[in-house]
Amino acid sequence: MRQQFGDYQNEIYLSGLFGVMPKYPMSFAGWEAAAEAALPPSVWSYVAGGAGDEHTQRANVRAFERWALVPRILVGAADRDLSVDLFGLRLPSPLFMSPVGVLGLCAQDGHGDLATARAAALTGVPMVASTLTVDPMEEVAKEFGDTPGLFQLYTPTDRELAASLVHRAEAAGFKGIVVTLDTWVTGWRPRDLSTSNFPQLRGNCLANYTSDPVFRAALGKAPEEDQGAVVALFSRIFGNPLTWDDLPWLRSLTSLPLLLKGICHPEDARRAKDAGVDGIYVSNHGGRQANGGLAALDALPGVVEAADGLPVLFDSGVRGGADIVKALALGATAVGVGRPYAYGLALGGTDGVVHVLRSLLAEADLTMAVDGYRALADLPAALRPVPGH
Ligand code: FNR
Repeated sequence: MRQQFGDYQNEIYLSGLFGVMPKYPMSFAGWEAAAEAALPPSVWSYVAGGAGDEHTQRANVRAFERWALVPRILVGAADRDLSVDLFGLRLPSPLFMSPVGVLGLCAQDGHGDLATARAAALTGVPMVASTLTVDPMEEVAKEFGDTPGLFQLYTPTDRELAASLVHRAEAAGFKGIVVTLDTWVTGWRPRDLSTSNFPQLRGNCLANYTSDPVFRAALGKAPEEDQGAVVALFSRIFGNPLTWDDLPWLRSLTSLPLLLKGICHPEDARRAKDAGVDGIYVSNHGGRQANGGLAALDALPGVVEAADGLPVLFDSGVRGGADIVKALALGATAVGVGRPYAYGLALGGTDGVVHVLRSLLAEADLTMAVDGYRALADLPAALRPVPGH
């Protein structure tokens, strides 16, 4: 029998026999509360907050309560297979780490992107590295070990800079490019506005820009000399309000798998597929961008149908292992988390992220074991809408 993710609980119970208690909390609520205590208030509110009164952020989480997994008995699901194939990448599980552009600051040593990449190496859970990092993408990629990593692009208005970022990602060994389309402008975020706090506009997490030859040439001086000029140039070129007409250009930038993040409408999925993308990424940015929207999970089935066999990645609102199983049952090929692992990072660096990822995977695996589902392909039959919702 292969090693099962659920075995993590045996490690924890066994350690307890020797008086060793878990170092970190065992659920999302615990990670969240401990991270609030561990992080500087400005970083905490930036990570925890969302758009408007955060209705959509809460809806993302609640949407999972409207679906239930029905157990089957006498299946003997002793050996579960959670592995997936994604653009030819064979991954041990469907879990991945969504891009979080402030990770650097979440770690106590200020190098959270590197710590997260090390957690990817240790767990086999891929990291989608944000454009916004404290350490340049080349340094992040060096920490991946044998685990594949993806690069998330915020497409700048300067096409030459966009091409440079993508080509650097290729050269650094990233295995795919995720273009985020829902954040060419920042959503209305009262928590951040009330403290006038936007980390990147304070000069944080801009290493991919300041290390880039095209950005440096446009700056015309060494970034260390004039932080104000760096931020001014960054804020001028950061957000490109792309249209469908730009997609062929984006596609032409790379032969790596290209994914579009932020798709919630079936028609957009169909158009993206026709334009030759390799994957669709359903997400509403964890409710950080537009309030008043559909929970991301509610958008998933329609997009899966429209994607018609193209891989569909999903994130927004996943808080535990059963949520992962439900998203897979609704057709996701792979499932991402943002805040959960960012909180693990705040608590224990690489170690904290590994704990969060192993906990999520153990719960997903044990949910399948208890409910009698051996393979991911069996999951769609497991799901029922909860009566009365
Ligand atoms: C994000 N997200 C994000 N997405 C992206 O494409 N590039 C980025 O740089 C960031 N930055 C970022 C910062 C913070 C603090 C958060 C919480 C999120 C969105 C992220 O990739 C993902 O879509 C959500 O985090 C998923 O929702 P949950 O898991 O946080 O509910």
